[in-house]
Amino acid sequence: MSDQSTAARAAPPPNLYVARVESVRHYTDKLFAFTCERPAAFRFRSGEFVMIGLMNGERPLLRAYSIASPAWDDRLSFYSIKVPDGPLTSKLQHVEPGAEILIGRKPTGTLVLDALTPAKRLFLLSTGTGVAPFASLIREPETYERYDEVIVTHTCRTDAELNYSREIVADTYADPLVSEEAKSKLRLVTSLTRQAHPVEGRVTALIANGELFRSFRGRSFDPALDRMMICGSAPMLQDLKAIALGAGFIEGSNHEPGSFVIERAFAGS
Ligand code: A2P
Repeated sequence: MSDQSTAARAAPPPNLYVARVESVRHYTDKLFAFTCERPAAFRFRSGEFVMIGLMNGERPLLRAYSIASPAWDDRLSFYSIKVPDGPLTSKLQHVEPGAEILIGRKPTGTLVLDALTPAKRLFLLSTGTGVAPFASLIREPETYERYDEVIVTHTCRTDAELNYSREIVADTYADPLVSEEAKSKLRLVTSLTRQAHPVEGRVTALIANGELFRSFRGRSFDPALDRMMICGSAPMLQDLKAIALGAGFIEGSNHEPGSFVIERAFAGS
């Protein structure tokens, strides 16, 4: 019996939904994205993450994943790494349309609009799969109601790893719900650290040398004007948090909104 048929046949615990996979897209040998139907009762806020997975024999095998689709969509999208010997992603990377996956009932997270106080510009700073929650937020109409400018930064090692962010931004420009607002307010800034690219270097370096701000008003972050959401690896979060605090930003949460929020990139293991 295959893992997928096991996932479909074993009864999932009552704290999980079962959803059918609708599409799968492989970007590189290490990255893929998939969509599934959204269980009718499943609600979340754009930018949150949730536990997802497969049945592994009698037990569910679950990992946290950022939801990459907006809260209004009747599909759920996810962007995942493939870890060859990763307990979940070694199996999940082989799912095909029609397969069933498990979805937790309690989405959560701090990369939500309500965790930030009002301002003019929103910077969504990401590395690698950390861009996933921003794929959700840029298709959320409320994002454009709250901000005059929305700047997504995505830094990866190689060019092929940028295809996901290029695609989600192109999809956003083409989405009738947000197209007009996005075309005037949304910008994608990509940079690479291990291949030639028009913008090269870590986002931390682009902030330090001012390159990030070259085409925007101002020369650096301004806590009176800007808000930041930060999502990437633990070292990236640590470095950007230090930059945000040093520039006078205050970390926000669901309980107490602030001027920046951070979250580790959730994308399987
Ligand atoms: P670099 O190639 O210089 O390590 P990873 O796959 O390791 O998570 O890295 C994804 C991207 O994030 C890479 O471009 C990497 O740059 C960059 N990166 C890694 N660590 C940091 C950090 N502490 N601050 C900012 N960017 C980082």
